[in-house]
Amino acid sequence: MTKIAVIAGSVREGSFNQMLADLALSQLKAHGAKVTEIDLASFDLPIYSAELEANNFPPDALRLKQILIEQDGLLVVSPEYNGSIPPLLKNAIDWASRPTGDEGLVALTAYRGKVAAIMSASLSPFGGLRGLMHLRQILTTVQMIVIPDQVSVPAAHAAFDGDGGLKDGMVTSLIDITTQRLVKVAAALAD
Ligand code: FNR
Repeated sequence: MTKIAVIAGSVREGSFNQMLADLALSQLKAHGAKVTEIDLASFDLPIYSAELEANNFPPDALRLKQILIEQDGLLVVSPEYNGSIPPLLKNAIDWASRPTGDEGLVALTAYRGKVAAIMSASLSPFGGLRGLMHLRQILTTVQMIVIPDQVSVPAAHAAFDGDGGLKDGMVTSLIDITTQRLVKVAAALAD
């Protein structure tokens, strides 16, 4: 079974990105994936520093990295903060990018050659598009294959219905298409 991890870049109570991640998560399951939800609130990840890395590599950074190593693909659903991605998410990506054990500097075992998809929800009319551009670049830098399909939800405060679904059927279709493509490419690459 194709294994996909889902990370939301916000741990805010009532997070719109978490709501979007929940929708995408059910679609990933509907498309046959075995989904692992990564709740960043449950990881104790100090801001990356070389000293910590050398002397006291955080156990939760290792735990996060190990979960990612076990996946075939990754879905990241993140808000845009000042035109980029939130430090919470960047810090998590950075820690899991670091070599451990006998790995070489650019082994990138959590990411290299795996497929990713990206989504964003934002209060603005632009749906976090600038953040998605940065996110795409970062995931490509750690050697992931980021599929062209992506989802952004503008005016997120007005986008969801009372049941956690989206009012706009087109966005729902885009989630369906994107999650289906993610599972398909992840399965093909895992062969
Ligand atoms: C924001 N927000 C925001 N929105 C946006 O579309 N473009 C931006 O550049 C920013 N910048 C920004 C910076 C900071 C520090 C914060 C806290 C927020 C607003 C953001 O879209 C809004 O808070 C979302 O609700 C955050 O996502 P969650 O927490 O609802 O998932």
